[in-house]
Amino acid sequence: MKFFIDTANLEEIKKANELGVLAGVTTNPSLVAKENVSFHDRLREITKIVSGSVSAEVISTEAEGMIQEGEELAKIAPNITIKVPMTPEGLKAVKVFSEKGIKTNVTLIFTANQALLAARAGATYVSPFLGRLDDIGHNGLELISTIATIFDVHGIDTEIIAASIRHPLHVTEAALRGAHIATVPYKVLMQLFQHPLTDQGIEKFLADWNKR
Ligand code: E4P
Repeated sequence: MKFFIDTANLEEIKKANELGVLAGVTTNPSLVAKENVSFHDRLREITKIVSGSVSAEVISTEAEGMIQEGEELAKIAPNITIKVPMTPEGLKAVKVFSEKGIKTNVTLIFTANQALLAARAGATYVSPFLGRLDDIGHNGLELISTIATIFDVHGIDTEIIAASIRHPLHVTEAALRGAHIATVPYKVLMQLFQHPLTDQGIEKFLADWNKR
């Protein structure tokens, strides 16, 4: 499983990229709105830092508008992936993007059927939202297992991005259940590095070294 970072914050993206584990970035309108910057300018900056997939979400609700927006976004850099909501109009747009060789990430996936439809429309990625399912008392991780099994049984090469990740256990379980990618907030990414025994071990090694 690869790591994407789920943010539009440039400092977080720079710091995550320096760690050497980052394969891409996902943004959404809420994350971009927090930054108070021009969307296109911010995407241009992000694509200069990260060479992997950078998801940029369309705002239109009709396929025609999504296609226009997506084509403009795709001109920003070759690694832009167009993020499209899981609706009938969204999937019409995905089909067009897929025929033009433009990569897509179908977002707001909450059922396996939605994931299957998105894959059949030609989506490069599907993004099931774990945390938001857990929030309403459903099992987000079970959805990852179900989608992974269906894609495997039917030889579907659309990649699964475990999204709406809230804590490190989501990451481990998503990897175990067959997600290809986890898109994680910066805070969760940094939590993945931590273990008290690692800190204690370093302290003890240094103390012993200094006793020489
Ligand atoms: C994924 O691409 C989304 O941007 C994100 O993971 C949504 O997470 P949230 O439920 O924490 O807003």
